[in-house]
Amino acid sequence: MRCALARFLSDLSAMPVPSSAPRAPAPSIALIGAIHLDTIAHAAVPIRRETSTPARFVSRPGGVATNVARALAKLDIACALAGVVGDDAAGAQLCAELSAQGLDMSAVRRLQGRATGRYLALHDPDGALAAAVVDGEITEALPAKAFTPLPTVLIEAAVWFLDTNLPPATLARLAKDAGPRRRLAADAVSCAKAPRLAAILPRLDLLFCNRAEAAALLAIETLPPADDLAAALVERGVSACCVSDGNAPLTLADNTGIRRLDVPHVAVRDVTGAGDALIAGTLAGLHHGRTLDAAARAGLAAAALTLSAEGAAPDSLNWRAISGED
Ligand SMILES: Nc1ncnc2c1ncn2[C@@H]1O[C@H](COP(=O)(O)OP(=O)(O)OP(=O)(O)O)[C@@H](O)[C@H]1O
Ligand SMILES: [Mg+2]
Repeated sequence: MRCALARFLSDLSAMPVPSSAPRAPAPSIALIGAIHLDTIAHAAVPIRRETSTPARFVSRPGGVATNVARALAKLDIACALAGVVGDDAAGAQLCAELSAQGLDMSAVRRLQGRATGRYLALHDPDGALAAAVVDGEITEALPAKAFTPLPTVLIEAAVWFLDTNLPPATLARLAKDAGPRRRLAADAVSCAKAPRLAAILPRLDLLFCNRAEAAALLAIETLPPADDLAAALVERGVSACCVSDGNAPLTLADNTGIRRLDVPHVAVRDVTGAGDALIAGTLAGLHHGRTLDAAARAGLAAAALTLSAEGAAPDSLNWRAISGED
């Protein structure tokens, strides 16, 4: 009898790439993690639990790695997405839609008999989240060897971004497979998942997290100031980190010290994807040769622009709009 891991691996298959498809440019950045289908119900009147409420439904790709990849594509950075979808209509829809948005999907695995990751949120008329549920089981179960041997696009990308929705063994394996020269960035995703990064902190070139996630990662039960958290993360081995705190300043830390960047004021229309846009703008800035501080300023501009529009990776997002370059 085959063991569960062997069965899981044999049920994983690469997404078929049409032979007539032109070969896209080699990706600069590979993003590895959650590929979900998000459905948001925008209620017309305040939601009551015990009855149905008229609403407008919007479906779009989601998941941290997916949102960062979509935002990077808007910033004209060639990207590959790696992760897993189910052998179902949602998986097929996501792959078609994300390919059309310019992402290389050749390293996306398809898993037979499993449901694609889904996120379902109910928003009140003022945009506030009334309730949300998520099924990220398929990504949680992605085995450490899912990308062994490494797909071509992962070999080609000089930068990998890891989304902490991946299970700990898969994160550890990817951190090892990245080798000594490839740049490795990660996002902590949530307080519950952030501790998964503890084992690979010394391998990370750049860590993104919010204040609560930083405290969870450091196993601190209180919520210290962002400066202390950022300093502690560098002490634990990350080369650099960006600790966000909503509309409070963004804290950067590396071996040259700690500094704070003011967050642009913005009239918030939709909170979806602000953290993901911060990551995409910063990675785009680094790709263009900016210093960490200058790159993070582009990230802050990307977050502000995303907050003032609906959804992650809005159409208004482009490099010119966030870089101040002509
Ligand atoms: N209310 C706000 N006003 C202005 N900017 C904001 C606000 N909330 C978030 N931002 C911007 O978005 C960035 C990331 O926000 P935040 O610290 O909430 O990250 P997060 O908790 O990881 O969010 P996400 O759930 O999107 O991943 C902030 O550094 C800031 O630039
Ligand atoms: Mg976040």
